[in-house]
Amino acid sequence: MAGKNIYIETYGCQMNVNDSEVILSILQDAGFQHTENIEDADVILANTCSIRDNAEQRIWGRVDQFKLQKRKRDNVVIGIVGCMAERLKDKLLKEVDLVAGPDSYRTLPQLLEAVTPDNPQINVLLSHEETYADINPVRLDKNGISAFISIMRGCNNVCSYCVVPYTRGAERSRDPHTIVREARNLYEKGYKEVTLLGQNVDSYLWKAPEGEEGNVTFPQLLEMVASISPEMRVRFSTSHPKDISDDVIYTMAKYENICKHIHLPVQSGSSIMLEKMRRKYNREWYLERVDKIRSVIPDCGITTDVIAGFCGETEQDHQDTLTLMEKVVFDSAFMFAYSERPGTLASKKYPDDIPYEEKTRRLNEIIALQGRMSLKSNEKEIGKRLKVLVEGPSKKNPEELCGRASSNKMCVFPSRGEKPGDYCEVEVVSVTSATLICRRID
Ligand code: SAH
Ligand code: SF4
Ligand code: F3S
Repeated sequence: MAGKNIYIETYGCQMNVNDSEVILSILQDAGFQHTENIEDADVILANTCSIRDNAEQRIWGRVDQFKLQKRKRDNVVIGIVGCMAERLKDKLLKEVDLVAGPDSYRTLPQLLEAVTPDNPQINVLLSHEETYADINPVRLDKNGISAFISIMRGCNNVCSYCVVPYTRGAERSRDPHTIVREARNLYEKGYKEVTLLGQNVDSYLWKAPEGEEGNVTFPQLLEMVASISPEMRVRFSTSHPKDISDDVIYTMAKYENICKHIHLPVQSGSSIMLEKMRRKYNREWYLERVDKIRSVIPDCGITTDVIAGFCGETEQDHQDTLTLMEKVVFDSAFMFAYSERPGTLASKKYPDDIPYEEKTRRLNEIIALQGRMSLKSNEKEIGKRLKVLVEGPSKKNPEELCGRASSNKMCVFPSRGEKPGDYCEVEVVSVTSATLICRRID
């Protein structure tokens, strides 16, 4: 396999970005090489997402493009890995040469060794243990400043709309020492920011081997990573409103380098919908968590995810979502129309009964309101002094730099020749709904 070129495209969430890095690491150790040019590829992989139907449709479009490569050159192998591989399993084997689910990446070298045009290969076994703890991911980020670290895999919740528990399997936490080692290595290589990833980071729990002491909870893990260096920022995602503890909030407050941003997906502002979604919290609980965060960390960035038009959603339920958004004033939000996923509880129990036009109307109202809320949230920043980690030149004006404040808000400000990874002190002078425009105060 030495010298064979691997090309990989990544879809879906940040965890998939990190998984692609794990995949490349495993394949490089087996003698493959990474290429960013599809024309040079011997193996074309798509690391896929099943979260909504439109995510899958987009990937199908790409697979058609990959097949053109196959026509141009002999012996090109096309593989689907990740969540779609896990969801569709052998149904994909008619279309591609290789199908590998999220827990099977260690077997990719053998699968690729065995694959021939008449002998497609598949491994979609899920595991209760696999965390790829010992794998040192090949970093795909371009600037060498900010990296993802998966701290757990899978999900034990059963939100009724969600396909993730089926594609990623049961929740398991990764050995904290391997997490700290990975973060320290990144810091030593010049990285300035790590984002700890899990579907529900608050339920991270490392159980010490029998007879030994040393269980590690998420707030403890946060402290361990934050203690590596005050110069290295720590972020994390995703927090579940039912699980985010006061301990996490106090730990964030204690360390300057733990970024003051919580991604706290609400999904709906209606307690009736939340119950049907099996989120295990209600509107009041969510609002209380937001109040708690803001009482301990007044400037904490809070972002969210919203689903419009879930099964049986009434106009009142929809209005409840809008009023919750107005109350909280999220900094930003990912907003989606409900997409029924085969096999989920909702697909079995509740008809997907909100017509397409109605879902779209509700979603558009949610998006329009969030635009106003993002602006309002940014306006509150005017006059504030912020510490920004430089990402690079601003896209619009190369004389300016861009980077994120602790709250995750994007800032632009005049350059004095700083490089990605430097910190700058700025003051916010004006805003748009997407950006804080700042002057230098350092
Ligand atoms: N673990 C995270 C979310 C992972 S999926 C959490 O619990 O919050 C990312 C987002 O996709 C979800 O927050 C939800 O808003 C959205 N999503 C998931 N399933 C969906 C579906 N069937 N239709 C529309 N949006 C969905
Ligand atoms: Fe899906 Fe719920 Fe798990 Fe998030 S917590 S991945 S929404 S099942
Ligand atoms: Fe998609 Fe799988 Fe992530 S379904 S959102 S790639 S966990």
